[in-house]
Formats: sequence, C-alpha cells, structure tokens
Amino acid sequence: MQKIKLDFSNPEFIANPYPTYELIQENEPVYQDDSGVIYLTKYQDVVALLTNKNTSRRPPHHIKVLTEEQLRDNDMDAFLMNWLIFQDPPKHTQMRNFFAKAINPKFIRARASTITTLSEHLLHTLKKREQFDIVSEFAAPLSLAVVCDLSGLPPHENSFIKQYSDTITQNLDTGSPDKVYGTQTLLPMLRQFFHNYLADYKNNPQDNFLSYVIENNALLDEPLNETQIADATTFIVFSAHETTRLAISLSIYSLLRHSDQIELLKQQPTLITQVVEECLRFETPFNKLSRWTTAPIVINDIEIPSNTLVVPLLNAANRDPEIFKDPHRLNIQRDQLNLAFGKGIHTCLGSVLGRLETEIALQQFLKILPDAKLIPNSAAWGNITSLRYITRLIIENPHSHDSFHG
Ligand code: HEM
Repeated sequence: MQKIKLDFSNPEFIANPYPTYELIQENEPVYQDDSGVIYLTKYQDVVALLTNKNTSRRPPHHIKVLTEEQLRDNDMDAFLMNWLIFQDPPKHTQMRNFFAKAINPKFIRARASTITTLSEHLLHTLKKREQFDIVSEFAAPLSLAVVCDLSGLPPHENSFIKQYSDTITQNLDTGSPDKVYGTQTLLPMLRQFFHNYLADYKNNPQDNFLSYVIENNALLDEPLNETQIADATTFIVFSAHETTRLAISLSIYSLLRHSDQIELLKQQPTLITQVVEECLRFETPFNKLSRWTTAPIVINDIEIPSNTLVVPLLNAANRDPEIFKDPHRLNIQRDQLNLAFGKGIHTCLGSVLGRLETEIALQQFLKILPDAKLIPNSAAWGNITSLRYITRLIIENPHSHDSFHG
C-alpha cells in the first residue's frame, strides 16, 4: 500500500483531518514522516509517551530551527526557555508548583460571575444582528477579557496582548528560522509591558494573578529574576486565551452540527459538564504536542531511538475507536476521559479555567441565542498546525429583530 500522506498544509486536511487520521490509525499508528519525525495517533500510545520519563519537552538544541549564527545573537531562546512548558524536572516541578499557587482552583472559580457578565454583554449585543462571526465577535473578546481581568491587566490592554500573542504564535508555528528569529524584535516591549505591571502590583498587591506571582516568588528559596517572571507570565497569559478561544468556538461548531445533542442538554441541563468534555474530545483545540526522546523508548512495539522528535496528535487519539465507541459521533453522554488537556507532568495547568469558561460561554450562548444556526461551510481555518485553529464561524440568528420589538 502507498504511504499515506500527512500534509499539515493541505487546506482540505486542515478543514477535516479525521479521515486521514483514521487511515493512519488503521495502517501505521506510529507514523514516521520523511524528515524522521514520529507521529502518534492511538490514545494508549499518546498516554505511554506523555508519561514516559525518557522524554523531554525541551528541544535538544533549544530552538532547533535557528541557524548557528542566529543562535549566537538571539534572545528568543532565553525567552522561550523561561516558559513553564519547556522545563524538565526538577526545575519544571518547582516552577509548576509556583504557578499552580497563583492560579489555584479557588481563585479561578471566583471568576465565574465575571465570565458570565462578560459573556452576557457580548451575546446581547450580537443578538440584535442577523449574522455574526462567533470566533472574532464572541470567543476571542471573551477569552481575552477574562485572562486580562484575572491577571490584573486593564481592558485597554486587551488589544496589546492579542496582537503580541497572535504574532508570536504564528511566527513560532511556521518553524521558519527568519520568522522565529525576527520575533525577538518584539521582546523588549513585551517584557517592559509585564515589568511595569509586575512592579505596580509589587507595590500595591491586589486579588489578581500578577500579584500572586510576585507574592509567591518572594517565598521561593531561589526567587526568579524579573525577566524570568515576565517571560513565564507571558506564556501563561498567551496560552490562557488562545486555547480557550478555540475551545469555545470549536464547541459551538460541534454542537450546532448536532441539534439532537442540544435538545438532550435542554432536557437534562446537568449534562453541561459532560458537554464540555465531549466537545473538547470531538474537536480538540491543542492538536500537536511534542516530546524529544532522551533514551530509546518502545511505543506500540516499535523502538524509537534517542533524540527523536515524537508528536502526539490529540485530535486523532481523541477519536480512537478502541477507546471511544462510534468516535465520529458527538455524544454528550460519554464518560470516558479524553486527552484534550494532555497527560503526565505537563497536563494543562489552566484546565479549571478552560473548562469553566467554555461551560459558561456555551450555557449563555444557548440561553441568549436559542435558535442560532450555523451558516453551512462558513468555518475558516488558519494555518497553525499545532492548534485546531478555527478563525471564523458565521452564525445566523433568525430572531435578531425580537429585541427591537420588546
Ligand atoms: C480549554 C482550554 C485549554 C486547553 C484545551 C489546553 C490544553 C493544554 C494542553 C494539551 C497542555 C499540555 C501541553 C503539553 O503537554 O505539551 C497544556 C499545558 C498548559 N496549559 Fe493549557 N489548555 C487550555 C487552557 C489553559 C488556560 C486557561 C491556561 C492558563 C490559565 C493554561 C495554561 C497552561 C500551562 C501553564 C501549561 C503548561 C503546563 C506545564 O508545562 O506543566 N491552559 N494546555
């Protein structure tokens, strides 16, 4: 049989990767591409990799794509290596405990009423219109406003965070040395931005994420320096709004194509927690993770040598028929655990916020726009391969005029 092609730049694949993932799962579940990168598509293989101690989240040569010359003169490397996600134990354990204190579940759950108010405000504005884009007009402003609010960044800074986060995510995802290297021109302003706010909250602590970061840092045996804190905080703020924007948009995309499941939810509102889980399984926001082997490992009876890049494909694993019966059907009554938040030591630190925000956004969306419909083929997808990057989703609102007539 001819080798199945895994082409992450093919628009048809980007819009619907599932038929290709299914073929690979059946024929070559541990898939190696021409450059030697290994992709995992089975649920158990992904779990085995993410819990294997002989792997690292840190690229062996740091930012592998940079040329020798670029590596000698760059700050991007140091910037990224201050991110929690690129740490290995024991530093990872210390840093994770430190950030876990600042975004603990109690602090996050206390944001529920703010998330509800922000959702209501955005949706009541949209309710007056016949058509709108739920990604850019609801999910994006909501996720941005929530993370800025909980971090202690005032609303007028939302656009700064959005602009920097979009540019950096896009540049890094290209893997192009010039784009990755070029991103460092943004760093001085970004670092200054966080330095200023961190300094303000050091002098005048409030009930927000940046204040807790400063407070907890002072308690560490070896406190992080100002740049380390600013860089690490940048990562958390960026990851919080990118993934949540996608989670909300993709969940609406899935639900509106399965009206029977919306009906079921209306009859049994307590299913909302399972709705969130099933939507995250069905269209998983974070698609490609990456690990480097630090010693030979065996996955699905295949030996993978040391120093190999192994990429778990979460959207494939979350539709593995060995784990999920009838995997291509959205079924909000499932109770199996999915891998949307990863597994092992790097399991998402913001899952409580991601779940809470998606839940409130969906509840409010279905309440305020109960007759919303998807405009067929209106979904657009960006070329960011590590994420299931939905960029547009047009919704039709048949009762847009109700609000004018009372
Ligand atoms: C529904 C929304 C979200 C999804 C689907 C998601 C998904 C993920 C996944 C799959 C990972 C593991 C990456 C890996 O193993 O390489 C991860 C890590 C992480 N996420 Fe999330 N995330 C979401 C929301 C958030 C939010 C709201 C925050 C911050 C408040 C956040 C902060 C983090 C951090 C800090 C890590 C790194 C953890 C570590 O390295 O120990 N995430 N996320």
